[in-house]
Amino acid sequence: MRALPPQAPPRFEIRVLPNAAEAARAAAEELAAAGADAITDRGVFRVALSGGTTPTRLFDTLATARYRRRVDWERTRVFFVDERCVPPSHERSNYRLAKKHLLDPLQVPPRNVFRMKGEDEPRRAAAAYEKVLRQEFGARAPRFDLVLLGLGADGHTASLFPGTAALAEKTGWVAPNPAPSAGEWRLTLTLPVLNAGRRVVFLVAGSDKASVVATLLGKKPGYRKLPASRVRPTRGSLVWILDESSAAQL
Ligand code: 6PG
Repeated sequence: MRALPPQAPPRFEIRVLPNAAEAARAAAEELAAAGADAITDRGVFRVALSGGTTPTRLFDTLATARYRRRVDWERTRVFFVDERCVPPSHERSNYRLAKKHLLDPLQVPPRNVFRMKGEDEPRRAAAAYEKVLRQEFGARAPRFDLVLLGLGADGHTASLFPGTAALAEKTGWVAPNPAPSAGEWRLTLTLPVLNAGRRVVFLVAGSDKASVVATLLGKKPGYRKLPASRVRPTRGSLVWILDESSAAQL
């Protein structure tokens, strides 16, 4: 490991790519760069992945011949930003999505993967995952090298939905939280953990996100009510990667 270089100043960046495939490639580049920096500086890359549908292209891109060697998955430890309260085999499971499109194709060692146990009672599962994070990071707020986030049309990110209790969590790291629109319970990292990230990357695509992206990034009236507006890394970079469709109203 090299002597720690002077830390690059945190950056705030909004990148608009022509389409969802190019946006996924840009996110793959960010993840590869974060991984290289982390492994060079600390010997390990800790990444927290979101679910939903947008990450699928990113995962598939990372598994291509062009990218599969750009990340040292032997020294990468994979965590999750959130999880639906379903079993890992369920079609709505974020872990299942990552396993199918990323973990299995890249043969990421199972010992390097830390899933949230959506099959367990939510409060117990949240406490168990917090214990996993304490074992990994110690007593300080977990500082992931890269936090991958998506954005819902209602301005939610992770499983922090407008008006839900987990948004107010200031000390806990993992919380059970309802997903009102989906009528299900979730497990989610809390804002203190998201904002401790060294590099927080929003990957957003699709015209259905154009309005909320414009409200958020254009700081239009009411944007502060949107959970994603609360993601402001304290000592890290914040990078928005958008396709032209989702950026169309900027
Ligand atoms: C989840 C995600 C969630 C997602 C947004 C966007 O578990 O669903 O973590 O926060 O990022 O809902 O979802 P899409 O990528 O499907 O639009």
